[in-house]
Amino acid sequence: MILLNPGPVNVSERVRKALHRPDICHREPEFAALLQGIRQKLLKAFVPGAESEYTAVVLTGSGTAAVEAAVLSSMPVGKRALVINNGVYGERISSIVGVHRLGVSEFKLDWGTRPDPEKLRLALRQHPEVHVVAMVHHETSTGLINPVKEIAEVVDSLNRVFIVDSVSGLAGEALDITGLHLYMVAGTAGKCIQGFPGASFVLVRKGFMERMKSYPKRSWYLHLPHYYEDEEKGSIPFTPAVQVYYAFDEALNELLEEGVANRIQRCKKASAFIRRRMSALGLKPVLPPEFQSNTITSYYLPPGLTYQTLHDRLKEQGYVIYAGQGQLESKIFRIANMGALTDQDIEGFLAAFQRVLETATVRP
Ligand SMILES: Cc1ncc(COP(=O)(O)O)c(C=O)c1O
Repeated sequence: MILLNPGPVNVSERVRKALHRPDICHREPEFAALLQGIRQKLLKAFVPGAESEYTAVVLTGSGTAAVEAAVLSSMPVGKRALVINNGVYGERISSIVGVHRLGVSEFKLDWGTRPDPEKLRLALRQHPEVHVVAMVHHETSTGLINPVKEIAEVVDSLNRVFIVDSVSGLAGEALDITGLHLYMVAGTAGKCIQGFPGASFVLVRKGFMERMKSYPKRSWYLHLPHYYEDEEKGSIPFTPAVQVYYAFDEALNELLEEGVANRIQRCKKASAFIRRRMSALGLKPVLPPEFQSNTITSYYLPPGLTYQTLHDRLKEQGYVIYAGQGQLESKIFRIANMGALTDQDIEGFLAAFQRVLETATVRP
């Protein structure tokens, strides 16, 4: 099956074969070597040249675990978080903050609208108790790229802490973590890194990790300083998904061999190809081109075609697309181009899409 959903993604045979490496115990030196390799490769890939300024904390759990760990670990006593919410994943961070009663009223925007940095500046000035600002880099619910640089500048200038959820961004979109002095960036193995789901990570500025050690422990399982302390010793606090880590390590080898910039270019090229063909078929994108990411395109469903029919007819031919979420659920569909996809996979999908459009649309 060719997966055109935003994770889990198709992986290479090389990554899949890594699952078959020998069974090991996570309290043995073999696991310590695997873990340190993953952590070093993450730094090499995403903060090249600044590996000594950042640390990578690896967790067993999906992307949400990494995001929740980052948010909960970053809050000193009496301080609050402000979440920029312009899609499903911004809303999720907002709920995380809400569940733990750590927020001020969110910075909420219509889906598909990018935050205005100056309005954020005003909001932050009105809320001196806000310590952390959290935002999604690539809002997967629509495929919107948020203005990380502009927001980082405002957050930095007011001495607040910026946390970025780049679960669906890293390795698909450029993100200058070092240049923007980002405090924490959450990511996952199972999207543009082309590993399996089940392992996630947070890239953290080392100085901030030191500060977080004095912050209250707000989650027993997801407290980053706890992971950091153990991982620095080659261990991990809880039983890790060892086989998923093997595959993660191999996916990182592939990423470094390909080069992060080349991976991003490959994604960009694939989405441009999809968009050209979809435009020729008369499909209307949800977002203007300048906001679109390299790996997701969302389209309005054409008149006379339901998502279920479109999805099912494509699946019969070996292709999985993705529905809209939340308020856009019945209106749009999404095509992701993450994972080990070839040009032929995409060609095949586009041909199948055209066939479905010609045969399944109900004309009024
Ligand atoms: C931007 C973003 N954040 C967080 C998540 C949550 O990741 P997971 O489903 O792996 O928990 C996703 C998943 O698609 C995402 O796209």
